[in-house]
Amino acid sequence: MEYKQWQLAKRPVGEPTRENWQLANVTLPDVDDGQIAVKIKYISLDPAMRGWMNDGKSYIEPVQIGAVMRAGTVGEVIESKSDKFAVGDHVYGHFGVQEYAVVSEQGVHKVDPALAPLERYLGVLGMPGMTAYFGLLKTGLPKEGETVVVSGAAGAVGTVVGQIAKIKGCRVVGIAGGKDKCDYLVNELGFDAAVDYKTEGLHGALKDACPKGIDVYFDNVGGDILDTVLTRINLHARIVICGAISQYNNTTPVKGPANYLSLLVNRARMEGIVVFDNAKEYPIAAKDMATWIAEGKLKAKEHVVSGLENFPETLMMLFKGENFGKLVLKVEHEA
Ligand SMILES: NC(=O)c1ccc[n+]([C@@H]2O[C@H](COP(=O)([O-])OP(=O)(O)OC[C@H]3O[C@@H](n4cnc5c(N)ncnc54)[C@H](OP(=O)(O)O)[C@@H]3O)[C@@H](O)[C@H]2O)c1
Repeated sequence: MEYKQWQLAKRPVGEPTRENWQLANVTLPDVDDGQIAVKIKYISLDPAMRGWMNDGKSYIEPVQIGAVMRAGTVGEVIESKSDKFAVGDHVYGHFGVQEYAVVSEQGVHKVDPALAPLERYLGVLGMPGMTAYFGLLKTGLPKEGETVVVSGAAGAVGTVVGQIAKIKGCRVVGIAGGKDKCDYLVNELGFDAAVDYKTEGLHGALKDACPKGIDVYFDNVGGDILDTVLTRINLHARIVICGAISQYNNTTPVKGPANYLSLLVNRARMEGIVVFDNAKEYPIAAKDMATWIAEGKLKAKEHVVSGLENFPETLMMLFKGENFGKLVLKVEHEA
């Protein structure tokens, strides 16, 4: 069977464009023992994809030129030579930006479309949800009554961080771009305040929104926002370095925090996290998340764009702040 897949054609300098990709027609290989064939239904679009396009050392190998673009995905098993999966099962795995895949059963997990819509397994119930859960609870260590600030607050990770911090009894302040996103955080998700970094002076707005200072900062964006937050932290504050989306397309060196001596003055800690380090504990998190969703304490929001052919432009929505919630690409298969 012939199908379409997005391959990396050329490594980007700065913002990726269509020229960095090629949409190839490829043939589905035969399924060997221990393998399954999957019809991919939803593809996760993640800021990390920008890093995977670069050559160089990171926490994971770069995608090679000519290879299918790596992506978290959910789909349906259409052929199986595995004891673990049957035809008709729905599964999560890194199947790539393509319509179909033949993969080893290793690293593939069943998901249940009766419990949640399939795309949710790429958001709250998937990698971004796990990032928020472990990054906040294991590294941020929020205590009741403390003030937690999160940037990229209306996105996949940020919405979950803020809601879990509320569940833990904290004052929660989100930083996001635009009135709609800020209104959503306060009115729908129960954040105590939200700051629109595009129109408000961040320093003054944070002072107003965090009258007792900042105990935990969950950083998704880096750059100037991280630097400004550092001026408002409390004694023994914890800063979780989850990501730095403001820096990923830089053609100049990454902008580090000039105000890092605030860590010294406040005996504060700044620590990076990688979600995969917690893989063994995902089931614990998934149970908590499912309970909170059932109790109405944790809301999910996905932003679904249809059409595999739209992948290059859809990915860039993340860097323009055009996504609202978890950005997912829906694959529409020909009947
Ligand atoms: N360490 C890990 O294991 C791990 C795992 C998953 C994700 N991450 C990181 O977590 C962060 C959030 O990922 P996500 O999947 O939840 O993405 P997301 O927040 O759903 O989408 C990205 C958002 O970033 C904001 N943004 C884009 N450019 C910006 C800029 N120059 N300055 C400030 N904000 C900007 C935009 O929101 P606004 O409209 O508000 O600007 C955009 O909607 C990323 O940095 C990602 O790399 C890390």
